[in-house]
Amino acid sequence: MTYSFYFGNYQFMKRIKTVEWVSKSAHSIMPGKVRFIDQTKLPNKFLHISTTDIDTIWHAIKQLKVRGAPAIGVAAAFGIAAHVQDSREKTTAKLLKAAEKAGKYLATSRPTAVNLFWAIDRMIIFARAAANLAPKDFKESLICEAIAIRDNDAEMCLKIGTHGSKLIKNGFTILTHCNAGGLATAEIGTALAPMYVAKDKGLQIKVYADETRPLLQGARLTAWELMQNGIDVTLICDNTAGWLMKQGKIDCVMVGADRIAANGDSANKIGTYSVAVLAKEHGIPFYVLAPSSTFDPKLTSGDQIPIEERAPEEVTCGFGRRTAPETVKVYSPAFDVTPARLISAIVCERGILRPPFKGKIR
Ligand code: MRU
Repeated sequence: MTYSFYFGNYQFMKRIKTVEWVSKSAHSIMPGKVRFIDQTKLPNKFLHISTTDIDTIWHAIKQLKVRGAPAIGVAAAFGIAAHVQDSREKTTAKLLKAAEKAGKYLATSRPTAVNLFWAIDRMIIFARAAANLAPKDFKESLICEAIAIRDNDAEMCLKIGTHGSKLIKNGFTILTHCNAGGLATAEIGTALAPMYVAKDKGLQIKVYADETRPLLQGARLTAWELMQNGIDVTLICDNTAGWLMKQGKIDCVMVGADRIAANGDSANKIGTYSVAVLAKEHGIPFYVLAPSSTFDPKLTSGDQIPIEERAPEEVTCGFGRRTAPETVKVYSPAFDVTPARLISAIVCERGILRPPFKGKIR
């Protein structure tokens, strides 16, 4: 794929493919497998999982082996394609049923990121339209559609990077929360994309990465990814952000999103809302960066966004070490919703949206 609007040189991020389709033959996409980086092993090990098994993909999404809103959408699309490819059904009508069943199942893996449902819907709409094809062609066409979803995401992120980089000035220090980088998408990320583009343009930037309790996506993934790409990153505990802002050390905040309602309210990793409140208090611009697959215009406000709750053990016994009494009560939402009034701009592949967002998002 070539990108005519920006000729960047994302050497590393282009080489690591977070989720992709791999086949043995260079001449055929079938038989193939979905291959993704096992992000639970990072930063200690860089390992891939290759599979066509729908249960393995469901559990990989649930356990955050593949995570980040766009990346789980791409994984689900490949999951449907892989499941249909391996199906022994002899008719296209039955293969279509298998695709629909796989889509319904994968939709139960995580509730918040709308990209998952967006990608599944796109696959099923495509499959229904392709139901007149012969079984082999139907299988191949589903794989092609899943690859197109992956490629579209890579392209959207690159555009987000290009637009978002206009918000960054030379010498800026940027705060980010969780991981909305290449590991969360098909290629260069959403919130981290402008940083890669800024670096490519020769701007000097620094990044503070919140460690992002309880699963440490900031520490394990964002810090790792930015370091791999030669970006000056400093890891902080989540509760350090306000103090840095108070000292005038943050020029802007850039975060991703899992679902954006029609009024601009944006769900993202738990802790994002607190960062937005702090940014408002200190007069620091707070930017949300996401592709159009993250928008859910059916929802009029963020109150309607379903928030995933995670298992207590992720808080009390994270990474195998008990840090709280076994029977303590735990509340662990995976996401929170930042109200639109705290957001300075939403950057998507079409450009930079400024408030008021209502009407513009639809
Ligand atoms: O639970 P995770 O790791 O999937 O949460 C990810 C985030 O909150 C990201 O910021 C969001 O998905 C945007 S990714 C471009």
